[in-house]
Formats: sequence, structure tokens, C-alpha cells
Amino acid sequence: MMFGISVQDSNWLDSVWENIKVKMSKVAANVGDKIPYTTVDGRYDDKFKEDPTWWTNGFWPGILWLMYMGTQDEKYREMAEKAELRLDKVLFGLDGSFEGLHHDVGFMWHLSSVANYRITGNPESKIRGLIAANHLASRFNIKGGFITAWNGKEREGWSIIDTMMNLPLLYWASNETGYSRYRFIAEAHADKTAENVIRPDGSVIHIIEYDTNTGEVIKTYGGQGYGTGSSWSRGQSWAIYGFALSYLHTQKTLYLDLAKKVAHYFISCIQDSFIPTIDFRSPDAPLYIDTTAGAIAACGMIEISKHVPSFEKKLYLNTAIKILKSLEKEQCDWTDKTDSILKNGSESYNSGIHKSIIYGDFYFLEAIMKLKEKGICLW
Ligand code: GLY
Repeated sequence: MMFGISVQDSNWLDSVWENIKVKMSKVAANVGDKIPYTTVDGRYDDKFKEDPTWWTNGFWPGILWLMYMGTQDEKYREMAEKAELRLDKVLFGLDGSFEGLHHDVGFMWHLSSVANYRITGNPESKIRGLIAANHLASRFNIKGGFITAWNGKEREGWSIIDTMMNLPLLYWASNETGYSRYRFIAEAHADKTAENVIRPDGSVIHIIEYDTNTGEVIKTYGGQGYGTGSSWSRGQSWAIYGFALSYLHTQKTLYLDLAKKVAHYFISCIQDSFIPTIDFRSPDAPLYIDTTAGAIAACGMIEISKHVPSFEKKLYLNTAIKILKSLEKEQCDWTDKTDSILKNGSESYNSGIHKSIIYGDFYFLEAIMKLKEKGICLW
């Protein structure tokens, strides 16, 4: 065992994995061909039908690939492949929605097509992954040194911390093709983010606006957090996992150091319950939490623990386990009343508070599988 987890924790992991298997089998039957985002009256919606370009549309196929790796049950593979085919109309511009795509093509096609290619070797999935990587690479501003986040001329200089989680698509494309240019773009963006987005105290800015001709910082925005200068917890968790993954793919010490730095800050902010508030710099009341930030940060800390010397490991690993145990004890619904597992995800400080969100379940499941060492790391 890579992690040297205690017998007690290992038993706990086994019981969570059993609960996941039972629940996901029923959920898969309920979902059918839908690509969900959240639940309505307990049942998953079909977000793809409503908005094919929606940034989370890769997480459901990602969940299915995790379940396939964990169980070898063919139904998950078949469902993941169907979902991937559904995404084709966006990727190949067949329905006019192509221009709605943005920096989150990594979330969308890394977890659907690249996962399929890496698990089954499907050559068509590899092409889809490369098309998505080319899209992401094309968003790089060569003078500014950053990947543009969303669309619209007025936001051309905007870059967001979330993009760090899309960089693994570029690292994969470099490894797959042998062309270093994808990796160079990913590293340039990570370096720019390291310089400007991580504050000296380890907290993280959500949105930063650069001059598109020079790359000078113009302004920062609170984005999905409480406000300018605040500390949106999911943004912190994107930074922890995003920089840890950039380290995994480049071995650049700076990235691991930054992942650790943001993790230390995150750990200091969750001491009360090990479940993050939506923003670590917001009023005490009302108390808004975001379980998705906890699940993502747990994945990031497990990843960090793989790359640090032995005496450092336990800080990250134990914290990840504490977060996951808190989530499991207080925030998981294993009943049939709802299709989702994790309760109380939050889209942002100002909207979509305390609801089920598909990526909460994805990262919770990923974290459990990472600890159980089941399957490959999809990133
Ligand atoms: N990437 C958008 C979000 O985390 O809500």
C-alpha cells in the first residue's frame, strides 16, 4: 500500500466503497442517457439537454469511468461511451454551440474522451482529446502569458484559478503527440498564475484581469467568492489540486511548493469541522458551506502526500482523511431518496447555495478511489 493507511481507516474506506457501489448502481439505472449537473426533487437533471457547452458535462462520464475502473462492470463503460458520443455535437460544432466552449474543455473532454482512450485505447477518443487540447492551447495569449478563461472581448484579459485543473489536458497532449508546445503553454500559464494569483499568505484570488498586450495585472475580482480580496474555498481547492497535478506532470518543485502552501492555508481555515465554508473570508453568519471544495482539496492533499518525503506525508494524508470522514458522516446521502451522494455543494457565495452538484460526487469518489489505489489517476 502506497499510503500506509491504518487498519481502522482501511475498514472505513471499504465500507464507504461498498456504499458507493450500491448507490451508484441504482443511480446509473435512474440516469440512463442523461448527463446530469444537479438534482430536481431528488432525481438528476439532464444538463446537457439544457446547455451542451456547460462546463461540468464531463464529470458524469468521469464518474462512470471511475466506477468502471473500480468494478469492471461493463454497464458503466457503455454509459460513459454514450455520454462521450453525446458531447460530439459540441466538440465538432454540429449544433452552433461550439463558440460557447472555453477554458473548461479540460474538465469536459479529459474526463470523457481522454479517460476512455487511456482506459480502453479507443483511437477516436484520442482524437477528441487532441481536438479539445488544441482548443485550450488556442486560448493562450502569447504576449500576456496566460490562458483566457471565458469568452467575450470585454473579458479577454480574464484568467481564473480554475484553469489550473484544465492544464492536465495539455500535459497529456504533449505526452501523446511528443510535441512540447502543449506543455510549454501549460507551464507558462502555471508560472503566470504562481506569480500573480497565489497571495503571500497562501490564499488565492479567483479572477485576475491582465493587460492583453503586456500581461500586466490590471485588476482582481472576488468572482464566486464573497468579494474582492476574499478567499473562495473552491478556488483554493482548485489551486491545491491543480498545482499538485502540474507538479505530477512536470516535476517542477515550484508547483509542489505552491500546492503545499495553499494546502497549509486551507488546513488552517477548516479546523472547526473539516468542512469548508464557501469563502474563508466572509461573515460568520449565515454559515454557508461548500462540500465540493472539501472533496477537491482532499484529492489535492492525497496527491501532494505522494510526492513529499515520508515525514511530511501525514499532514496531507491525515487531513484529507479527516475531510472525507467529515463529509461521509455529515454530508452523504446513501438512501434512494436522491441520486446524488454529497449534500450542500455551493456554486458561489451569492447563488446556488447548498445543493447537490455533480463534481462534488466526482471528487468524493475520486478521493476514495485514490486512497484505495483503484484504477489510474484520470488527470
Ligand atoms: N469552475 C467553476 C466553478 O468551480 O464553479
